[in-house]
Order: sequence, then C-alpha cells, then structure tokens
Amino acid sequence: MPQRVFITRLLPDPGLSVVAAAADEVDHHALDEALPADEIRRRVVGASAMICMLTDAIDATILEAAAQGGCGLVANVAAGYNNIDVAAATRLGILVTNTPGVLTEATADLAFALILAVARRVVEGDRVMRRGAFTGWSPFYMLGTEVSGSTLGLIGPGRIAEAVARRARGFGMALIHHGRRPAPALEALGSRPVALNDLLETADFVSLHTPLTPDTHHLINASALARMKPTAILINTARGPVVDEAALVEALRRGQIAGAGLDVYEREPLMAEGLAECPNTVLLPHLGSATRTTRGAMAATAAANVAAWLRGERPPHLVNP
Ligand code: DGY
Repeated sequence: MPQRVFITRLLPDPGLSVVAAAADEVDHHALDEALPADEIRRRVVGASAMICMLTDAIDATILEAAAQGGCGLVANVAAGYNNIDVAAATRLGILVTNTPGVLTEATADLAFALILAVARRVVEGDRVMRRGAFTGWSPFYMLGTEVSGSTLGLIGPGRIAEAVARRARGFGMALIHHGRRPAPALEALGSRPVALNDLLETADFVSLHTPLTPDTHHLINASALARMKPTAILINTARGPVVDEAALVEALRRGQIAGAGLDVYEREPLMAEGLAECPNTVLLPHLGSATRTTRGAMAATAAANVAAWLRGERPPHLVNP
C-alpha cells in the first residue's frame, strides 16, 4: 500500500523535500491559506500521515475520518498543539507530534522586543515622528518604564521562558518565575520560584510562556490583573486564551496596569473590541516564530516526525500522554 502524506497548507522547505523523499505520494495543498475543515476531513482519508498547522482545528470528527481511513500520525507545525484534540487522537490510536525547541530563540527575541517596545514606547514614538508631531526634546516628554533593574516574572517556565531569562540577565533584570514543575535551568539563571499571586504582585513585567490547557485558560483574568502593579506590563507570546482579553481591555482602560505587549489573541485573527484603542499596547500578528530560519526548522522538524513514523520508528516529538 503506497504511503501518502497529506499536507494541509504550503509547507516551507526543507520540510517539503524531506516528506517527498520519505513518502510514496504527497498530497500538498500548496497555497498559503487554511483549508476548510470539510476538505481536511475528506483529504485525510487514505493518507498515512497528515502535516497540519495551528490554523487547522483538528477536532474529533477529522480525527475519526483520519483513523477510519488509516491515518496514524498528525504532525503539527508548531510547538503548541491546542488546535488538535489530542485526547480524541489518543483514543483513536493516532499519534500527534509538535516542533519544540526550534522556535525557542525566535519567540524569546519577540517577547523581549515587546518588553522593550511597550516599556520605552517605541511604536508610539515612531508614530509621532511619522505624523510630524515631534516638537522638540523635553524632560517630561514620552517617559516610559526603566527595563534595567526591573523585575521580570515568567509564568510557565519552559524553554522559551529560559531563553527570555537569558536575555533579561543581560538587561540587569531580577527574575522570578511560577510554574507547576521545578525549573532548575531558570534557577541556575538566578530566577526565584514564587507563588502565582506573589509573581503578579511583584513583577514589573509579567511574561506568559505557558501552553494553553484547561488549567491555563484565562489564567490572567480580572482578578489576576487586579493583583498586578499599576506600573506593570503584561507580555503574551504564548496563546491568546491564557488571557481574558475583555478583562485586559478593562484593566488597561482603568489604568490598573501600565501596558501590554501581545503577539497572540483569544480569537485570532480577531482581537477584543477596544484593544486597538488602548494607547499603551503593542499589538503584533502572531509573529513569535516568524523568521525564515525558524519557520524552515519547524517544517523540517514536522517532516522528520513524519519520516521517522513512515520508517516504522517512534517519532521524536510525540505529545500523546
Ligand atoms: C507555536 O509553535 O506554538 C507558535 O505559536 C507558532 O508561531
């Protein structure tokens, strides 16, 4: 039986060439647009493996069609895999893989870019110059928040949090973190483990690096925001629904916190009403891993998971429990 791999969306090289070499046939939707769910459900039937992206909601109905049609692996081109119903996949005997590690540095760079941009009003300043509104230096003009010497609170201390912590050390920041598991690598960087409420009440910058799970959905809600300092800045490069976006807009409007730098949103590609009107925000369109090098590495990692599985080996980045 020939081994066919279904790829739901244009896959950057070298991922595509790895899949083409490993499979007998490739059904590649070679356009940079997400396919409708019905079409994914139809085309996955008879494929041995599927490569999908975070824009594809791989729910139980797609997985049932996949399992019935003989598909045994769903390889996500992302570190996060909240777009896939992993419990249903596991129940149906389908393996799910992700692409951890390769996007760590790019995502940490972007988190740090947001820290600096919000704290030092970089985007706002750029807009002032472009509209010709700069009237000259003043000792009180566009004052921001000092990054050097401030405290960075990392929530969800995995690889990306560690990479952000390394950058923060170079900026002379004090580090605290909160997570469910011990984080020796962060502690080795001088970060102190604290309870969530302590972190919220102490940090000048709260940076989110937790996966989206039922436990972390709306982790940053109205009461968490109320605990943050009025001078504090929230950074989210993890997943949008970790933050209650409507509560965030309210907190920003009321000056409960000083600002926010967001790369991810609750209902992408949309964002909560009112967010765009908050001047103390920097809003990016989910660019965490968006460098040519990193996107190539993510595609190659997804392809390597597929290739291993087609050879009858255990894929290196399994996420099924
Ligand atoms: C991921 O891999 O989870 C990122 O959000 C993709 O940009």
